[in-house]
Amino acid sequence: MEYKVITEEHFERVIEHLRGNFFADEPLNHAAGLCQHGGGNAELEHHSLATLQDQLSLMAVDGRADSATYGQIAGVILNGILRPGDTEEALEKLQHSMDENYKKIFELLYGHSLQVDLFARYNVERIFDVRILSVDARFRGQGIAKELVRRAEQVARKSGFRLLKADATGIFSQKILCSQGFQPFSEQLYAKYTNDAGEIILPVEAPHIKLQLLTKQLNYENNKD
Ligand code: ACO
Repeated sequence: MEYKVITEEHFERVIEHLRGNFFADEPLNHAAGLCQHGGGNAELEHHSLATLQDQLSLMAVDGRADSATYGQIAGVILNGILRPGDTEEALEKLQHSMDENYKKIFELLYGHSLQVDLFARYNVERIFDVRILSVDARFRGQGIAKELVRRAEQVARKSGFRLLKADATGIFSQKILCSQGFQPFSEQLYAKYTNDAGEIILPVEAPHIKLQLLTKQLNYENNKD
């Protein structure tokens, strides 16, 4: 597998990969019925492209010349820069969204993030925000997501970030991030995220039971890089 920084010439192929995988498979997207495999979603594509513009994202490409999937994107990790006020602004903009399913998902994510001021808590001015982790179904279970997270940390380190953060929506991404030294900071059980009538807003299927916000601090003391 070859791991590369995603540059502008790859953006279209990355969106294509997400349409075939993440957009339908990610636990919250799946629960909300956001889109079908291969189908697009204007708001999620806009969110992904805005993240790609930060030039901190990576992809895994099948580099086996004798493989039928040679040159195809096997997985991606989309990382963006989060600055104070960004989440508040995004939540405000979300109120104008016409896509009720997208709105439901991001109200949960932004609302949960806003329960704590990570900038003040960790005394940082910007956060390396791991927003999308996606592996093509044909390549899952081979350690690609784990390697993408490991390499994303190297990108964060090279750019001098002191804090990484991720909203992990499923049990596997939670496990993968923990294996790479992220620590759970806060969580929301899906069964307890309900509307005024007591109905579950996002009926996420097992084995996924909660949203977890995880963080990882980077220490630059004795850094040999
Ligand atoms: N069943 C059981 N275990 C699993 C599964 C699974 N479906 N998926 C991953 N794991 C475990 C692996 O066994 C492995 O554990 P181990 O190291 O103890 O052996 C560990 O998780 C790492 O697995 P990887 O092979 O690195 O994960 P993979 O490359 O298969 O990708 C991912 C996992 C990204 C969650 C993939 O299934 C996917 O794209 N899912 C749909 C999108 C999604 O849910 N993304 C995460 C949302 S959160 C976010 O984006 C920030």
